[in-house]
Amino acid sequence: MRHFLADDDLSPAEQAEVLDLAAWLKDNPYAKQLLAPGKTIAVIFDKTSLRTRFSFATAAAHLGGTAITVGSAETQMGKGESIEDTAKVLSRYAEAIVWRTFAHSNLEAMAAAADVPVINSLSDDLHPCQILADLQTIKEHFDDLTSIKAVYLGDGSNNMANSYMLGFATAGLDITIIAPKDFQPEQKFVDRAINRAAQTGARVEVTDDITAAAGAHVVITDTWVSMGQEQDGKDRNTPFRPYQVDANLMDKASADAIFLHCLPAYRGNEVAAEVIDGPQSVVFDEAENRLHAQKALMVWLLEHKAKAAQ
Ligand code: CP
Repeated sequence: MRHFLADDDLSPAEQAEVLDLAAWLKDNPYAKQLLAPGKTIAVIFDKTSLRTRFSFATAAAHLGGTAITVGSAETQMGKGESIEDTAKVLSRYAEAIVWRTFAHSNLEAMAAAADVPVINSLSDDLHPCQILADLQTIKEHFDDLTSIKAVYLGDGSNNMANSYMLGFATAGLDITIIAPKDFQPEQKFVDRAINRAAQTGARVEVTDDITAAAGAHVVITDTWVSMGQEQDGKDRNTPFRPYQVDANLMDKASADAIFLHCLPAYRGNEVAAEVIDGPQSVVFDEAENRLHAQKALMVWLLEHKAKAAQ
């Protein structure tokens, strides 16, 4: 059974297949009726969401089925039912399980017990569905991903930074995480990305030097306070101020650079309004592409499961 818990669960060739399918589904939104008539996917949230919730539900509808979307506290998991029992039960109803949770190990436990594909729709470690949408968006602007230099500025210790390293290295993009020394990625994620980059020719770098953004084709940032970090007692403002993406920073990037942000955004913190609301920003295409990329991912996983069963 194939699951999608981490960006590097897909090989470079498999990721390219999903991205090609996502681009095709953007033009042919109802062409794959894999959930018709009336099959379901189970979508569970332990954290808040706008984009993920609506994009998975819309994708399921486009595929001819329905997403049953619940907060985990509304399920018996909120009262202590085990992840394993939940996985086994949901596998009897749904074609796939999509879960936004805290500990990444929760997803691994769900996947180990499930008989249907499990999709990580954000954990404390990774947000791989977002990276598929980001790659689709970048491909809409640049033909050859392997010639692209991407930079991510801000909180380099969060799930987005980890997924950018793993997912972009898989796609062959050069990725530099530019973050204060106290907010850089755990070495285990850097090592994993470097291993993957060795297969694709990508470069993975981590620095606190903001001048590393010079010449970037893709400039990315994210909130300085990821979900679950609101009460962690750290100063999540002062250390990040020099890393704000503003017009001055964008001037240092390539003239044809695009700006990405997974949203929600906090103007005046991680990004200046002049950038996110300016001509280089593609954040709403990026948000739209969550729909197409996740639909493609579900089709890819379900078709893979069907082939494996033959
Ligand atoms: N980017 C993202 O995952 O958005 P939501 O938190 O609104 O789902």
